[in-house]
Amino acid sequence: MCGIVGIVGNSPVVPRMMESLKRLEYRGYDSAGVATLSGGNLDRRRAQGKLDALSEKLSLEPLDGTSGIGHTRWATHGQPTEPNAHPHMTEQVAIVHNGIIENFKALKAELIADGIAFESETDTEVVARLLTRELETGAYPSQAFQTVLARLEGAFALCVLIKGEENLMFGAREGSPLVVGLGNGENYLGSDAMALAGLSNHLIYLEEGDWVELSRTAVQIFDRNNQPVERQVSISQVATTMIDKGNHRHFMQKEIYEQPTVVAQALGRYLDPNAGTICLPDMPFDLADVPKVTLVACGTSFYAAQVARYWIEKIARVPVDVDIASEFRYRDPVYTDGGLAIFISQSGETMDTLAALRHAKVAGQHIASIVNVTGSTMARESDLVLPIYAGPEVGVASTKAFTCSLSVLASFSVELAHAKGTITAADVAEYVTELEHAPALMAKILSKDHEIEAIAQDIADARDILFVGRGIYFPIAMEGALKLKEISYIHAEGYAAGELKHGPIALIDENVPVIGIAPDGGLSDKTVSNLQEIMARKGKVILLSDNKGSIAEDMHAHFEMPSAGDLITPILYALPVQMLSYFAAVEKGTDVDMPRNLAKSVTVE
Ligand code: M6R
Repeated sequence: MCGIVGIVGNSPVVPRMMESLKRLEYRGYDSAGVATLSGGNLDRRRAQGKLDALSEKLSLEPLDGTSGIGHTRWATHGQPTEPNAHPHMTEQVAIVHNGIIENFKALKAELIADGIAFESETDTEVVARLLTRELETGAYPSQAFQTVLARLEGAFALCVLIKGEENLMFGAREGSPLVVGLGNGENYLGSDAMALAGLSNHLIYLEEGDWVELSRTAVQIFDRNNQPVERQVSISQVATTMIDKGNHRHFMQKEIYEQPTVVAQALGRYLDPNAGTICLPDMPFDLADVPKVTLVACGTSFYAAQVARYWIEKIARVPVDVDIASEFRYRDPVYTDGGLAIFISQSGETMDTLAALRHAKVAGQHIASIVNVTGSTMARESDLVLPIYAGPEVGVASTKAFTCSLSVLASFSVELAHAKGTITAADVAEYVTELEHAPALMAKILSKDHEIEAIAQDIADARDILFVGRGIYFPIAMEGALKLKEISYIHAEGYAAGELKHGPIALIDENVPVIGIAPDGGLSDKTVSNLQEIMARKGKVILLSDNKGSIAEDMHAHFEMPSAGDLITPILYALPVQMLSYFAAVEKGTDVDMPRNLAKSVTVE
């Protein structure tokens, strides 16, 4: 969601802020802006739409200044128009903000009653007006900032410039991440390590309630009680070069095709093929004692959790709860003493997942996170971190993070089963061998992309598409439907194949393609019977399977998958559903990497 960058610098800041905002594009946004201090005065440029529009404004009306703040906005309060774009400014202050000020209505009413006028519909402008009012009482900037922070409720990361104070910047973190970057004669603020990648690799992750005062040569951090605190400096691993698409047309395409490589990398961290063992990091608890596992996540990560439930219950025989993070804490979950709660998140910053993590932590559960961004808040607040090693994922539609998360979850499930004694060391070695085969099989599937492309082109005009599967393939069906709707805007749903006749089959006619996910064996005969029911109602069945079996004649299309062991098959079937969505979106001409209304990192509830 919203991205923030701030520089208290000693050379022109606008080009560098624009570079940083470019790095933040992946988070999703619909307007952008920058403000600088020059000759002691604040000025800003803002534009609706993408960064190109802001660049154009800046080339027509350049901004000078060696201190500045920049922002990419994902609209929450007020439409994505220029007046609602950040920075929000008065003559005295300029502010950028990520998050939501929950009590903004009450604060706004108070300011309006005080005769103060507003220019935007945003919650952020309230902070700018409050701070201005405090400064006008003659308060020192730091005192004024503290007073304002004490009035704010909700989740926010703030970055503030003050008129006449070119060697000063404030930042605050409450609920939304904010990172300090340490420089040489300069200091920086950013919403994540990516924002600061071209500026500094010495980072300080602020903790909840922290606020910070930066000058070119000093950084002073205070906790929520306004007491000075020291926070650890970490060295960022984020590449300083701009992540590019290489020869690919879209980041999503690049990330789909990278999967054999990154899955191999991820598995390389968790498997010891010579010993035939799984190597997890040191644990602050004993896996053998875990009585129950709770898996919590959002979106694609939630579907990874759903797949993992089948693995953990089947192989390790440990009971598993799986929850959508936004629902989790509100259902007042019943925890089991000594339980392990695992939070899956590519970004490690998803607000609902983070709130769920904190809920489980307060309840005394062991906390593990499976994340791609190892410096993320979730990673820092977990007892155990299992990184997925997918590398930066830029496309809003998650692809390689899904298969890497599944690879880590599969390895974890096997190790849990071994610790629990439900499988032997020889079984572990067999699973390790099976996992090792996954990357080559993935490459084989990707090499048949032209077949999936033809199927996607054939169905891209459909209004509704269903994905069906049974057992462990039901979450893959839901993931396929999510992927398709988010980037192609075709309405799609994923169903347990056996559930169709309890309602959804009423939708079926000759215009509704149904993607059947049915690897041979297991429940495939039952899925195929359900597909037959669909074909009997003229539904266009497209089968993803290593066995086209008895329905070959009547199917609309078949994509032949390689045969593989049960453990890795769900990972493999993620690929054709990703490709199907990608090619359908390309056929429809949508903005594949930045689909409308979506953000990569969802940092509001
Ligand atoms: O960063 P996270 O894994 O926590 O993100 C969760 C979801 O927002 C994310 O998976 C989302 O559903 C993707 N856009 C799906 O492609």
